[in-house]
Amino acid sequence: MPAICLVLFALMAPTLAAEDIDRQARVWASSCAGCHGTDGRSQGAFPCIAGRDADDLYRAMVEFKTGVRSYASVMHQHASAWTDDELRRIARFFAAQSAPSAGNR
Ligand code: HEC
Repeated sequence: MPAICLVLFALMAPTLAAEDIDRQARVWASSCAGCHGTDGRSQGAFPCIAGRDADDLYRAMVEFKTGVRSYASVMHQHASAWTDDELRRIARFFAAQSAPSAGNR
């Protein structure tokens, strides 16, 4: 019995760790929802960031943060608070969300 528990725990541990990371990124990402929509699926004037390439999203955030994108209206503020690692995790979270279907934008 204890041996089985050990095996089960060994199988579950990496899964639990991955979910923890997701959950944290989801909490961070919720601060973007007011403008970019739930899980990044914007329905309105703001760019939709769900289902986009994680590297592209990350690069855009770094460009806002460093001021390379000078035309940003509000994103300088929203990108500046995060560390590099947090931005990567936020980008990965949005990339993993399904993009809105064509009829539902
Ligand atoms: C107050 C509204 C607001 C909030 C909150 C906000 N954004 Fe934005 N975001 C914008 C606007 C507006 C743009 C378009 C560029 C601009 O004018 O700044 C944009 C652009 C972007 C882009 C570039 C999209 C593209 O196609 O070039 C990314 C990526 C992005 N936001 C990610 C985020 C993330 C991640 C968060 C949360 C940490 C966030 N935004 C929070 C308003 C917001």
